[in-house]
Parts: sequence; structure tokens; C-alpha cells
Amino acid sequence: MMTTSHTRVDPAKLDRIRAELGSIDRLHLLEGWDRLAPEQQIALVAQLEEVDWPEVGRLIQSHVLNKPEFDLPEKVEPAPWYPYLPPASMENRYREARELGHTLIRQGKVAAFTVAGGQGTRLGWDGPKGTYPATPIRKLSLFGCFAEYIDNIQKRFDVTIPWYIMTSPANDQATRRYLREQAYFGLSEDQVMMFPQQMMPALDRNTGKVLMSGEHEIALSPNGHGGSLKALHTSGAIDDMKKRGVEQISYIQVDNPLVRVIDPLFIGLHAMDDCQMSSKMLPKRDPFEKLGNFCLIDGRMTVIEYSDLPDELAVEKGDDGRLRFLAGSIAIHVIRADFVESLNTRPGGFALPFHRAEKKVPYFDRQSGRVESPLTPNAVKLETFVFDALPLTERSIIYETSRADEFAPIKNADGPDVLDCPGTSIDLQVRRAADWLDRAGCPVPRKIDGAPDAMLEISQRLAIYPEDLKPIKLPDRIKPGASILLA
Ligand code: UTP
Repeated sequence: MMTTSHTRVDPAKLDRIRAELGSIDRLHLLEGWDRLAPEQQIALVAQLEEVDWPEVGRLIQSHVLNKPEFDLPEKVEPAPWYPYLPPASMENRYREARELGHTLIRQGKVAAFTVAGGQGTRLGWDGPKGTYPATPIRKLSLFGCFAEYIDNIQKRFDVTIPWYIMTSPANDQATRRYLREQAYFGLSEDQVMMFPQQMMPALDRNTGKVLMSGEHEIALSPNGHGGSLKALHTSGAIDDMKKRGVEQISYIQVDNPLVRVIDPLFIGLHAMDDCQMSSKMLPKRDPFEKLGNFCLIDGRMTVIEYSDLPDELAVEKGDDGRLRFLAGSIAIHVIRADFVESLNTRPGGFALPFHRAEKKVPYFDRQSGRVESPLTPNAVKLETFVFDALPLTERSIIYETSRADEFAPIKNADGPDVLDCPGTSIDLQVRRAADWLDRAGCPVPRKIDGAPDAMLEISQRLAIYPEDLKPIKLPDRIKPGASILLA
């Protein structure tokens, strides 16, 4: 990326950008160039350099001026998975997998990776989403939740866990500042690595024109979490992992305060089956829950988006009376570092498919000289998704997890009947804490509908499994309506 220490744009660089934009008929982005002040020219070039313009040119044709159709392959099978709790025949396998997970963690071969480059538009929080105050009592941020989990694993296994965070050029500085101000929540500065992903311009949905967010500013947004597979390589994160001896990347999203940032059993099952990239799943609550569906297509692991799975397949039941396509993706993966490297270094490189989303994007209108806020979708945004790398693997497993223990997503702003919002997340966090306290012999008062009648928060520094509460001195009694923090 361009630094602002220079006072003028390098002419050779400008020529290169001009040629790239000219080749895709987008020279209008440099309109009025000569009238710009030097610092405006520098800022515009920095933005232009964040984008792969030849790729944008191809996508305008294939994804904006035309809509790609999803062709459901003829033979789509539900993918198999490892159940949350092992059947008797698999108890040994799970035990060995857990031990293998422990060994890999103890040997420093596992890193945590959080994708935090998204814009979080639905939540509408003024700052990187990872800084959102997520927990019931302390209002600890999402980044804080992950850091406490990592701290717990470090103490448990006497190891340092490198933590990689993918940001975007739009939130990189704010993310770095925030973590520095929080003193990395007690982790050491040199174990936390941040790097930005690439951006894509928002495109006018009728003409394919690149939208401007200001007179000299392009409306850019991050290129999707699939961009992490390139950014891990180009940023030098994979090289850094090699130096540190990291083999497995534990991939999580920024929006779930209950996620097991590092899960020994999941990592062990994945490593034991020698997989390149594996996934966690939740059994869908109903046929149309908005989770991607794990499928096998020609034997290859594939996620089919909920909007692309035909209704007749979504409702189909198996002999056991359960949905055939039951396994829903919650964007938790383990990925081998050398798989990411091989994707990036294979001849001809690799490309994940782009997904098209129609969105309302405010834009600068040259005629009125104002930023207009459209009421209906006016733009196409293009993103790649990390799960589209699954069909590129030779081997990939799925492990079921527990909704109650590991899923409390924050996607939307609070509102009546809104799901996956801060309010529902707090409710789920309190329920998990109540369940763990009950199991540890500290009964939690309940309301008539069975919901906990107390505000509860358990720091993950203290407990990441219910058993972790057993040796801890717990309150003798929890009064109805009490607020109990275990930290
Ligand atoms: P979401 O799909 O929830 O998108 O991202 P978002 O951008 O955070 O939120 P909305 O749609 O604007 O409301 C899922 C995860 O993928 C990351 C997000 O930060 C989140 O952890 N992500 C998403 C990226 O890292 N980069 C992207 O380009 C998109």
C-alpha cells in the first residue's frame, strides 16, 4: 500500500494505473486528476492500488451486466459428519483425536485466525465489529472474548498461541489502535498479527460504473472472507506461521462471543483424517434456517447457500425422520497452512467464485455535487466466500457442535423480534452460563418459562468447558434477579 510520506504520486505508478483503468474502460475514475491537490491525488492512488482492476473488468461483464445463474449439479448428496458426542463405536477415535489436538496445540502447531475485515453494516456499530461490547455484565468486546479464550488455552497447554487478525483497509488502523489501547487484553504484542484484505469497488447495478463515495473517493468494500486465503499469503502471514512452526489455522469469524477459538477435538479429528480444510456444523433448526448446506458433489465437499438449495431438497427427510440436508455451516474451520500456501503458489494461481449481492450504497453524484442515499438497492457488491475453497480439498471433515455451547452470533442491531442481535446473544450467553453453573452444583433460579432469573457472566479466562467450574469456589446461593460475574 502507498505511504503518505511522499508528496507526489510516482508518474510510473500513475501510468500503470491509467493503463489498467483504460483497459477496462474505467478512465473516468481519474476525471479531474489535474485539478486535485497533491494529497488528494495520493489518497486516490492509494485507493486505486487496493483493487485488482483487470478482475473488476471481467466481473462487470459476468456478474453486473449479466447475472450468473446457479446450476444445481445433478448428483448432490448430504455430506457426512462426526456427531457432537461419539457413539460407543467411536469413543476411542474421539479420545485419540482429542489427544492429538492437545499435542498439536502443546507443540505450538496451532494458530488462531479471526476474519474481521467485514463492514458490519447490519449491526451499525461505529467502529470495527470486534470492538463491540458483547458480554452481559462486563460488556467485554468480541476481541476481548477471543483474547480471554486464547489466554485460557495458553495456560492450559503452556504455550504461546499466535493470533492473526484479518482487517480491511477501512478498519485496520482502528483495530490496531483498539488492541494497543487494551494492551492486547494481556496477550503479548508480538503474538498478535494484523493484516488488511483486498477491496472491491461497488458497481452501479444498471451500468456497471464504479460508484464514488465522494468527489475523489471510490466506494470500496472488502472482497469477502474468501479474500483471507489470498491475504494470508500476500501479507506474509503464512511465512510468519512457517517461522513459528504453525501447521494448523483455527479460523473463526468476529461475531460469535461463544466460539471455541481453538477446539482440540475438532483440530484432532481434522488432523487425524489428514484433511486440508474442515468445518464445524450445526443441525439446522428448520429446513430454511439461513445457513449454508454441507453437501457432497462428485465426492467433493461443497457448501450450497441456503438461497440456492431447492425447497424440495431442503425439506426432504431421511429414514431417521431428520432433514437429509441437516448440516448447516457456521463458518468455523480448521485449515492447514500448507494448503493455503499451495493454493497461492500453484501454477495459474487459484480463484474462488464471486457472489453477487445487490445493496444500497450511498454515492457521490457529480451532477448534484452531493452524496445521495438510495432507498432501494442501486449497487452490486462482489465477494468471495471462504467455504468455496472446500471443493479444492482432497480431504475434509465436518464436526457437529452444540448450539447451546458455541453459538451466540451478533449480526443485526437490536429490535423487536430480531434474531442474531446483541440482545439474543446476551440471552444465549446467560443461558450457557446458567447451564454450566447448574452442572457444577450451583443452581440458578429460573423464571416460569425456564429462562435464568439472573444476569450471569463467566470469563473464558476461567472456564471454556463446564468441567472447568468444578474446582472454583462458586456462590452458595444465587438470588433471583442477581448479577453474578465469575472472572
Ligand atoms: P458477514 O457476512 O456477517 O459480513 O461476515 P459483515 O461485513 O461483517 O456484516 P454486514 O453483512 O455488513 O452486516 C462474516 C465474517 O466475515 C468477515 C466479517 O468480519 C465477519 O467476521 N468478513 C466479511 C471479512 O473479514 N471480510 C469481508 O470482506 C467480509
